[in-house]
This record gives sequence, C-alpha cells and structure tokens, in this order.
Amino acid sequence: MDLYEHQARQLFEEYGVLVPRAEVTDSSRQARVIARGLGGRVVVKAQVKTGGRGKAGGVKLAADPAAAELTARQMLAMDIKGHPVRSVMVAEPVDIDREFYVSYVLDRAAGRFLAIASAEGGMDIEEVAATRPEAVARIPIDPAQGVTSAKAAEIAEAAGLPAQTVDVLVRLWEVLVREDALLVEVNPLVRTRQGRVMALDGKVTVDGNARFRQARWGADEAGHADPLEAAAAAKGLTYVKLDGEVGVIGNGAGLVMSTLDVVAGCGARPANFLDIGGGASARTMADGLSVILSDPAVKSVLVNVFGGITACDAVADGIVRALDDVRLTRPLVVRLDGNNAARGRAILEERAHPLVQQVTTMDGAARRAAELATTA
Ligand SMILES: Nc1ncnc2c1ncn2[C@@H]1O[C@H](COP(=O)(O)OP(=O)(O)O)[C@@H](O)[C@H]1O
Ligand SMILES: [Mg+2]
Repeated sequence: MDLYEHQARQLFEEYGVLVPRAEVTDSSRQARVIARGLGGRVVVKAQVKTGGRGKAGGVKLAADPAAAELTARQMLAMDIKGHPVRSVMVAEPVDIDREFYVSYVLDRAAGRFLAIASAEGGMDIEEVAATRPEAVARIPIDPAQGVTSAKAAEIAEAAGLPAQTVDVLVRLWEVLVREDALLVEVNPLVRTRQGRVMALDGKVTVDGNARFRQARWGADEAGHADPLEAAAAAKGLTYVKLDGEVGVIGNGAGLVMSTLDVVAGCGARPANFLDIGGGASARTMADGLSVILSDPAVKSVLVNVFGGITACDAVADGIVRALDDVRLTRPLVVRLDGNNAARGRAILEERAHPLVQQVTTMDGAARRAAELATTA
C-alpha cells in the first residue's frame, strides 16, 4: 500500500528527518488559513498517489494566503493521471541549494534491499537514470546488517552526497524497517541554502502483509487506486486489474498465473488476476463474478478450476448459485478438471444457462474465451 506524501512526511518527522512545516486539507479556504500560519508564501502540493506531480501542475508556489487559496481550489478540481485530487498539502517553501535522490527498495530477485542514490535528484531523476546511469549509485544492503553509519557513509560516498546526509540515510532505513516498508523514497532530499538537509517529497510503500501490526494507515481505501481492486479487497478477494478483455477466475495463484499466460498465448489479453482460493464457496464465486462483470472492458469470462480439496462439484454448485445472484451479461467459459470433475460438469449441464459453456481442457477453454472476447 502506497502512502500519501503527507503521511510519508509525518513518518520522516517522527524518525527525526527534517521536513518543511506543512498541513494537509481538503478545503481551499483552510489552505488560506494554513498559509497564513506558515508565513504567507507557501508551496501547495496535490496529494495523489502518483509521481510527476510537479510536471503535471500539482506542485505550485503561492505568494500569499489568497494565492494559496486560489491554487488549492484549482488543484482540488484537478485529476492527475487519473487520480482525482482530494486534498492538498500546504508547505513552507524551502530555499533549495541542491537536490538529491535517495531510496531504499526491496530487491526481490536478489533477496536484499537496494539503496539507490544520486547527487542529481529532483524532477528529472528518471531522465538522469536513463541517460547517465553512472550518476545513480546502486548499493546492495544485507537485510540482516541494515544501514549502519558505515553503510550510510558508503552510500553517500558512492552517490556523491554530502556527509550531512549520512545521518538521514540511517534514519530513513529505520523508517523502512520499523514501518514494514517495501519502499522508502525521498526525491528530492535537499540541502538548503542555510545548509540543512531536508526531505521535500516522500514516497513510502508499506507491506500490506504487515497490516496486522501496522494498523495506523487504516484499511484498504488508501491502498487501491483502482476502484475495482478496492471493491474486490472489501470482499476479501485477491484481485488485480489488468488491461485486457478476458475476465479470469481460478483457484490457486499458480493456476491463475498460468491461465493468464494461456489467454495471452491465444491472442487475447486477460482483464484481471483473480484467485478465489482453495475453499472457494458459492459466495466467493458470486463475489468474484460480480467484480469481474463490473469491469466494462470484459467481453468474456474464463473460469479455470482444478478441483483438489475443493471438489469440482462444489465449485459447480458455487457457479450455479452465483448465477442466481449475479446477472450474467457476457459469455462464461468454464473448465473443470480434477477431483469430481464429471459431477461438476453434470451440474453445470443441468443448469443449462444460455451464456455458460464448458470446455474440458485449459487450452481449449482459453481459446474459446479468447475467441468470444475478440469477436464480441
Ligand atoms: N516545500 C518546498 N519548497 C520548495 N520547493 C519545493 C518544495 N516542495 C517541492 N519543491 C520543488 O518542487 C519539485 C517537485 O516537488 P515534489 O514534491 O518532488 O513533487 P513530484 O516529485 O511529485 O513532482 C521538487 O523537486 C522541488 O524542487
Ligand atoms: Mg518528487
């Protein structure tokens, strides 16, 4: 789950990293009041969970409280890359001398964390990374050792950051560990003209699996930028929205992943990942179907189930009951195999829903669903 900038800022402050004074609000009138409290001249920043806000007009300097109110009003009506702006942060402006980039990110492939740092931070860091990769240092971090002062000095040295950043690098690592974060990114980390090192922007991604001990950021609202994902999460489903037209439901993450591959191999694009798990009930099937069918891009739905502990007849019962709950508006291709497959197939045949068809192999079913989606 990604945190908003203002939440990241709050964490940095708690861990002793200097940040500009700031307050968040969803009211433009309140933005004026906050600006007055901060001395008049402020930076107004759209709070959206997407990068490149500055370039999209989501970070603006306001000369006085009246300008802050106007800017906040304009920003609160904006949409940045599909993210409506629901609140703004009004922050004290900082006299920037230099901008740096620093982040800690989980490197799953290497089983480690990675520190990425550059003395050329700011809004063009992506371009720096693409055109002059040597200007961006990448230092592996052994998770058992973490970032000690010595390690932080190594990172600063490799990236060409001033010695003053060492302490900040250690504190940011503390944020990552204690907050169960998968990513802590500060861009820019700045040195001010007064010689102080401050975090001006932050992105923190906390590990959703740690939510049981990190209750403070609340439930799912914040985590799911996509409304369908939010609706699925509210129903306890493991659903990921993709860009295609074939809705996919399967039991077991591995089977669903390979189903996505097979659909793609048939020349169609999967519309989602949805694992209804081992003990899929009729309720789960109905919930899954309703989430998938509420995606207007879906042209056909493929249910791919390999009966194991949950036998195919139970899954077929689930589908039949789901058909009573959910109005099926697009064709459903079902492939049942494994435990009690014959009985499961018989149940669906008996139900004889005009939009439901069965195919016995995974390849065949994917091909059928792909055909239906591309000719629809
Ligand atoms: N409080 C601030 N004072 C002065 N300049 C700021 C402040 N916050 C941001 N900026 C400037 O605006 C740029 C973009 O802001 P940032 O918060 O990094 O947004 P984003 O990365 O989403 O574009 C920063 O690189 C920095 O130069
Ligand atoms: Mg930034």
